[in-house]
Formats: sequence, structure tokens, C-alpha cells
Amino acid sequence: MKRVAILISGGGSNMLALLRDMVGDHPGRAVLVASNDPAAAGLARAADMGVAVAAVDHRGFGKDRAAFEAALLQPILAAEPDIVCLAGFMRVLTPDFVRRFEGRMLNIHPSLLPKYPGLHTHARALAAGDAEAGCSVHEVTAELDAGPLLGQARVPVVPGDTEDSLAARVLAAEHRLYPAVLRRYAAGDRSPVWL
Ligand code: GAR
Repeated sequence: MKRVAILISGGGSNMLALLRDMVGDHPGRAVLVASNDPAAAGLARAADMGVAVAAVDHRGFGKDRAAFEAALLQPILAAEPDIVCLAGFMRVLTPDFVRRFEGRMLNIHPSLLPKYPGLHTHARALAAGDAEAGCSVHEVTAELDAGPLLGQARVPVVPGDTEDSLAARVLAAEHRLYPAVLRRYAAGDRSPVWL
């Protein structure tokens, strides 16, 4: 059984999709949900589901990313995860942190990478007039949103779409994609999932 830690910053809807899937014959089990925001709604949701939670408020560390990460690392290392899933985790991680979990840290990003790394992905897809949008799960490497792809799900952009309507359609696809990828990945299969 693979031990899975999930890092979140907000509501944690992707985290919930992962937790709900990690039952029965799933090769992974959640051992920790951690956040950089003690008020992240997802923490209470995870605790309600019986998962250990931890919060390290990044605001207490100013611009000292290394000190923040050292503090965040403590509960993560104590949980001894085999796999770390970033699920709406909105802090950029330093290469040192990434290196510790190289080859076993995943991220979900709301665009069809390599298109639109970084922020405001839906606004950028709409501004470009794209006919399709979607989401990607990838292995995390030191370069932002650029590691090897583990899966993508595509959705149409429809006439009249706003940033919010497109984000909602993509988020629903994220909830299908991330569990499918983690299931496969935790079983030792890194071939990409295409939805
Ligand atoms: C999701 O759309 C996720 O792809 C995005 O934040 C949202 C979090 O939702 N992540 C990023 O933009 C990472 N840079 P959730 O907290 O409800 O899972």
C-alpha cells in the first residue's frame, strides 16, 4: 500500500476526489493532508474523513521560502509518504524541496500543458480563442508546471463561456482525471491517462 500525502491551499475539491477514490482495492491510502493556510476549507473536510491534517502558515515566514518549506517538511516527513500530491497547492516550491520528492510528487494544473503554465489559465485560453481547454497531471520538477505528463482531460470551450464557466467545466474534468492518474501511478504505472 502506497502512503499518500496531499498538499492543498483552498477548498480542496481535488483532494476530496482523491480521498473518495482511495478506498477498497486502491493501491494508495492518504496519510496526511497539509496546507500553507490554516483556514483552508479542505483541512476540515479531510479531518472529517479521518485523515491526519497539518497547517503551516506561509505568512509567518515572510519571503523566506526555505524556512517555510523546512517547517512544512516536518509533518510531511513524519507521515512518511511514498507519493506527494499537490492538489490546488498555490505556493511555488524551491528546487531543494522538489528534489526531496523527485519522481514521487504529482501536481494538477488547470490547462492543457505545455499551454499556459502559471496563473489565469482560463482567461488565457479564452483570450487566445481556443476551442478546447482542460487539465493536466504531471510529475513535479524544479521548473514550474513543466514535468513529465501523467495525464490530460480535455473539455470544449463553448460560445458565451466566461472564466468562471470554463473553470467549472475544467474542475469537473480535474475530479475525473486526478483520481484516475493516482490510481495508475500508485500501482507503479506511469503511462499517461488521456480523458
Ligand atoms: C484547481 O483548478 C487546480 O487545478 C488549481 O487550483 C484549483 C484548486 O481547486 N491549481 C493550480 O492552479 C495550481 N497552480 P481545489 O482546491 O478545489 O482542488
